[in-house]
Amino acid sequence: MTAIHPSILNCDIAHLADELDRVTGHDGAPGADGIHVDVMDNHFVPNLSWGLPVVEAVLAHSSLPVDAHLMIEDPDRWAPQYAEVGCHSVTFHAEAAAAPLRLARELHRLGARAGLALKPATDIAPFVDILNEFDMILIMTVEPGFGGQSFIEQMIPKIERTRAAINAAGLEVSIQVDGGISRATIERAAMAGADNFVAGSAVFRAEDAHREVEALRELANAHTH
Ligand code: DX5
Ligand code: ZN
Repeated sequence: MTAIHPSILNCDIAHLADELDRVTGHDGAPGADGIHVDVMDNHFVPNLSWGLPVVEAVLAHSSLPVDAHLMIEDPDRWAPQYAEVGCHSVTFHAEAAAAPLRLARELHRLGARAGLALKPATDIAPFVDILNEFDMILIMTVEPGFGGQSFIEQMIPKIERTRAAINAAGLEVSIQVDGGISRATIERAAMAGADNFVAGSAVFRAEDAHREVEALRELANAHTH
């Protein structure tokens, strides 16, 4: 199932509740499938965003599932609390986790879905044998840290390899792509095997954010296998 997850990283933070409402379904119109919240610690990435209190504020206001993307050092220590407060999925970086398998199991025990994120230069190969421990693999299509960057085309073969590995193992694991996703790039990512699409600037800079979500979903659906 195709899912569109707007990222609030570069939305109008002073009006966060209104921004969330701009992408939430109403009056029979479906809206986004989840809200992507980027947590950055200025150590794992060269940027600082927010932590648990803002994520809790989003959870309190929004009826949509919250998808936490943790761009932080030591997720083994910090990720479980995002599951505890009620995030639907918690995604941590493979490069930062000391024990990714143990952490995935801990997140599941706490009732969240577990996601494993890979920076552009990190291969999926070392993680193929533990794919079954995850609900989602996040393939970063920009270097993590900032919104508004350009989609890195070289990530297409990595999406294809990841989809092939998931299929070969007979698993139902989502592939999320994050970074530079727009009407211009979403079709290629969908064709390669992604089914979950994060879009920050494309959605929140659109005049009609709700319609942008719909347009992205339609383009992705037309190219999903
Ligand atoms: C970047 C973040 C993304 C970012 C995407 O490190 O993980 O979620 O908000 O923004 P766009 O869609 O503008 O590339
Ligand atoms: Zn993200």
